[in-house]
This record gives sequence, C-alpha cells and structure tokens, in this order.
Amino acid sequence: MRVIIETNSQAASRRAAHFVADLVKRKPDCTLGLATGSTPQMLYRELIRLHQEEGLDFSQVRTFNLDEYVGLGPAHPQSYRHFMQVNLFDHINVAPANTHVPDGRALDFEAHCRQYEQLIKEAGGIDLQILGVGTDGHIAFNEPGSSLGSRTRLKTLASETIRDNARFFGGEEKVPRLAVTMGVGTILESRRCLFLAFGPHKAIAVRDTVEGPITAQVTASALQLHREVIGVFDEAAARLLVRRDYYAEVERAQCLLESGKLRELGIGAQ
Ligand code: F6R
Repeated sequence: MRVIIETNSQAASRRAAHFVADLVKRKPDCTLGLATGSTPQMLYRELIRLHQEEGLDFSQVRTFNLDEYVGLGPAHPQSYRHFMQVNLFDHINVAPANTHVPDGRALDFEAHCRQYEQLIKEAGGIDLQILGVGTDGHIAFNEPGSSLGSRTRLKTLASETIRDNARFFGGEEKVPRLAVTMGVGTILESRRCLFLAFGPHKAIAVRDTVEGPITAQVTASALQLHREVIGVFDEAAARLLVRRDYYAEVERAQCLLESGKLRELGIGAQ
C-alpha cells in the first residue's frame, strides 16, 4: 500500500480529490466506486469545486456506491442514496441513470445483489474505489468475521458500527440492523483503491489495516492483497503506524520520479 500522510484532513481530502480528478480527466467514462459517511465529505466538496470552478466533467462517469441501509428508501434523510444526492450528485453533471446505490428496500435481496454485481461487470469493473474504514476495521459494511472473498450481500451491522452511526439517527435504537454491502471480494476486484481515514479514533483501524496481519477480523486488512491501494491519512489517523519514516521516503522518491528528477534518485548517474 502506498501511504500518504498529510497534516490534516483538509489537505488529505484535497490530495485524494486529485487522484479522482486525474482519472476523470484521463478516462472521462470511468467507473467510480463511492463511499458515504463523514470521511469522504470533504473530498466530495473538493470534487464539486473542481466541477464548478474548473469544469471537471462527470457527464460520462458511472458510479457504484458501496452500501445502503436495509429498510431506508431514497427519500430517507439517513439513506446513503440521499447522502450521495446531497453531498455530490446534485452538484455535479453526473447523469442520474449512471449513478447506482444498492436498494435498501429491494423485495428480493439475493436477486438485487446478483444484479448489482452484474451491473458493475457490465460497466467494465470499478476503476477507482473510494473507501473509508470503521473503527472496527470494516470496509463497506463488511464487519469483522466477513469472508475476505465475499460478494455483494446482506450483512448484519456490528454493535460498534451501530454505536458509531447512532449520531446520525438520533439514537442507537433507530439505526437499521442490516445493510446491503459490496463484499470484500467485490472491492478487491476494483483496479485501484483510495483508502481514507481521518482523526484519532481511526488510528487503531489504520494501524491494523496497513501493518497488521491480514485477517477477517479487520476486513480492511484484505487491502494488503490488492495490487494498487493508495492510503491517504491525516496525522492523527496515521499516529500508530510504525513505518511512517519509510512511507515518507517512498513519497519523496515518488515525487522525484513524477517530476522527472531521476538523477537525484541515482537513475542515469555515471
Ligand atoms: C460507507 C462505508 C463505511 C464507512 C465507515 C467509516 O459507505 O462503507 O465503511 O466508510 O463506516 O465511516 P465514517 O467515514 O463516517 O467514519
């Protein structure tokens, strides 16, 4: 995993937004995998700014969201469909028909999940998957113990997740107990992942994901098996990483490579 540590979440979100914008410019009909929650909010704000001020064009982009609460329709203020409309889709020129969020009110979830996977396949797969992480180490709603080969399906939320998300619902008892979620296996098939975490409450999850053993108890740790993950963290979330100095060295080398300063890296030196 490439690890980028920025001083704060604003800088980290701007950095992350540039990875998304670069892709959209390079491949205007790309497929983005999107997350909800507090983590990507600033990244979405930056994408809106890039669209409104710099003309970043989403007209051919397709999107697939990671998950949705079971029982909530698109008009529910806490549904992830509603979140995406308010925080991104309503402010950019993405075609509504190109945006996909699992249906929390499907009647036949098995068929719905199969169809969701099929739609991703028909779109050519996900080019860039944006991910946050739960304090219990989950990606999407793949709670501890989820199969690392899992596909889109129904999942029971862990008590830690219900507690973490109670703030949005005004009480734990109001948080839905089930979610439809892409599986870990689905996520691992995306071409590139942008893994974001901000704040001191994410420090343990980040350490376990990046430097811990690969385990179904921390489903984000499966990202270690993915060929191209970029982790973008703020200082607080990266605080427990042991190999921070090395990650900074790698970033320095990456910068020199990208700016063509090859000699400084000993490339082509006599
Ligand atoms: C949301 C999602 C979740 C969140 C995670 C962190 O679509 O899939 O895995 O990314 O629960 O949530 P926040 O960002 O609210 O801390």
